[in-house]
Amino acid sequence: MTIVRLARSQQVRATVSKYFLLHRAPVIYRRMKACLFIANNEPMIVEDVSLDAPATPGEVHVKWKASGVCHSDLSVWEGKLPLPPGSILGHEGAGVVVSAIDSKTGLKPGDHVIGNFVPICGECFYCKNGQPFVCEQSQVIGMSRFPFSRSDGSRFFGAMGGLATFAEEAVVHEAALVRIPSDFALNQACLIGCSVTTGVGAALNAAKVTKGSTVAVIGCGGVGQSVIQGARIAGAARIIAIDLNAARRAAASRFGATHSIDPAVEDATGAVMGLTDGRGADFAFEVVGLSALQRQAFDMTRSGGVCCWVGVPALDSEVSIPGAMMALANKSIIGTIYGSSDVRQDFVRFVNLAKKGELDLASMVSRRIKIDDINDAFTEMLKGDSIRSVVEYD
Ligand SMILES: NC(=O)c1ccc[n+]([C@@H]2O[C@H](COP(=O)([O-])OP(=O)(O)OC[C@H]3O[C@@H](n4cnc5c(N)ncnc54)[C@H](O)[C@@H]3O)[C@@H](O)[C@H]2O)c1
Ligand SMILES: [Zn+2]
Ligand SMILES: [Zn+2]
Repeated sequence: MTIVRLARSQQVRATVSKYFLLHRAPVIYRRMKACLFIANNEPMIVEDVSLDAPATPGEVHVKWKASGVCHSDLSVWEGKLPLPPGSILGHEGAGVVVSAIDSKTGLKPGDHVIGNFVPICGECFYCKNGQPFVCEQSQVIGMSRFPFSRSDGSRFFGAMGGLATFAEEAVVHEAALVRIPSDFALNQACLIGCSVTTGVGAALNAAKVTKGSTVAVIGCGGVGQSVIQGARIAGAARIIAIDLNAARRAAASRFGATHSIDPAVEDATGAVMGLTDGRGADFAFEVVGLSALQRQAFDMTRSGGVCCWVGVPALDSEVSIPGAMMALANKSIIGTIYGSSDVRQDFVRFVNLAKKGELDLASMVSRRIKIDDINDAFTEMLKGDSIRSVVEYD
């Protein structure tokens, strides 16, 4: 998510008011199951809601087939990221177009699509300068429709890009969808909607991992395993997986890690130094979302190396870095959202890598669940061993 813009809660409120001022009475389209985010840290409610019909040019009715559950959904639910309740979470989805109104991108019924949680306006400074992943209109595009309504009349919006992939169906703007070939399993393709693009893109597009390099990855959940796969695809010689969870360290070795470190039993920075003749890693990624680990990633980066922050800590967190070492050790710290990808090309690129067997998506789907079990997926993420829980819809 584009965190800086998410922080502009006034803008969110303005968008909400504008919606109610401008929108005519909605045409109720159909009833279907959705998972409602009612309040921070309270169980989400799964119930039947109504969905408006698509009404304006560019709106698309999509039936989700599958959705991964990402840590960013959990962070919003916990209140660490400032997206308001009264919404439907889920932003890692793939599905099939049911109908589309005047689609400029040519979307039509039956097309297979992956949701893009940073809708691309194509007109702003960033879109015109090759950085659509920070499109300044994305939040407005994504959150300017409230197509879901409960029986008490209250209305809900899709929190991330408007996608609402924790609902069976949604009406979204076409700027939040990318068509993919129809011969690829949607319950794997959904992962490309966030974790895979974020992680593989962080390695290939943002940090630009080089052949023969040494890469350290702190955090081996869905996104971290994707960084590991990206580093493997880039030809890294050594990939060091660092995670508290033994099962995820073991999985990392299947995705391409050559070494693993349990930070509960050894100092991770010291262990990386030990593996690199005291230099540090050429590339170090933080993929948990804790400021202490962002600092740790910096410390384990060699002089002249690249430290890449992928994890998203609480919005008010800060991290302290020894300023002199930034210059004297010629280190770079880079941040990345959505793997610094242009999803209009990269989604299909990653589908093709998966088809060729270079990207293993199947093994990342470690739990297949139904929407009724969505709350358990958060518990599993924090306490279990899974890489990714994927909600599958009928
Ligand atoms: N930048 C982006 O565009 C973007 C996109 C998606 C997710 N994210 C963020 O990336 C982060 C990871 O997301 P995810 O879905 O992979 O989460 P996840 O919960 O699946 O994985 C997090 C991993 O970190 C490990 N971990 C926790 N504490 C640790 C510690 N102290 N030391 C080492 N490992 C530790 C956990 O065991 C787990 O394996 C989150 O902060 C998420 O919000 C960022
Ligand atoms: Zn995500
Ligand atoms: Zn834009």
